[in-house]
Amino acid sequence: MAGSVGVFAVLASAPTVVRLSLHVLGASVWLGGQLVVAGLLPTLRSMGEDAPRKVAAAFARVSWPAFWLLVITGLWNYAAVHGASQSSAWNAVFLIKMLCVVAAGIGAYLHTRATTPRRRGVFAGVGALATVAAMVLGVALAG
Ligand code: HEM
Repeated sequence: MAGSVGVFAVLASAPTVVRLSLHVLGASVWLGGQLVVAGLLPTLRSMGEDAPRKVAAAFARVSWPAFWLLVITGLWNYAAVHGASQSSAWNAVFLIKMLCVVAAGIGAYLHTRATTPRRRGVFAGVGALATVAAMVLGVALAG
């Protein structure tokens, strides 16, 4: 019995498991989805001229809710780990992460509004890179 208490003592609490699982779920859909759709592009193009556009519109219906899930659970994270009481280095990393999140959202939005293939590609790249940076910085913040 004492042994099992010892095992649970090293696990995250139930609210922490829910909070971080939802945050990571949002990240996996938002970022993983972008990478998978990018990887499917050659195949989608071979399926017809408007196939990539249709898939992109369908993906947007899944990816934007995931983005807002990240923002909501991200605010929950900040409150749960008492961000305001963390070190100035932690808060500097958090601020850079927030700039990456804004860049990721703006990049993805401009990608959907772009009218030339070149602009679509550039904005998709900026959005995806900013998201990867936000993810890595999030892992650093979680320590
Ligand atoms: C593009 C959007 C985002 C991505 C890809 C992302 C990704 C991640 C990842 C992978 C972690 C590490 C989780 C773990 O180690 O279990 C994390 C942690 C964290 N994220 Fe995000 N995140 C995003 C947006 C946000 C936003 C908008 C906020 C705040 C408003 C935020 C605040 C945090 C905080 C404070 C932590 C540390 C949590 C802890 O130590 O328990 N994130 N993030």
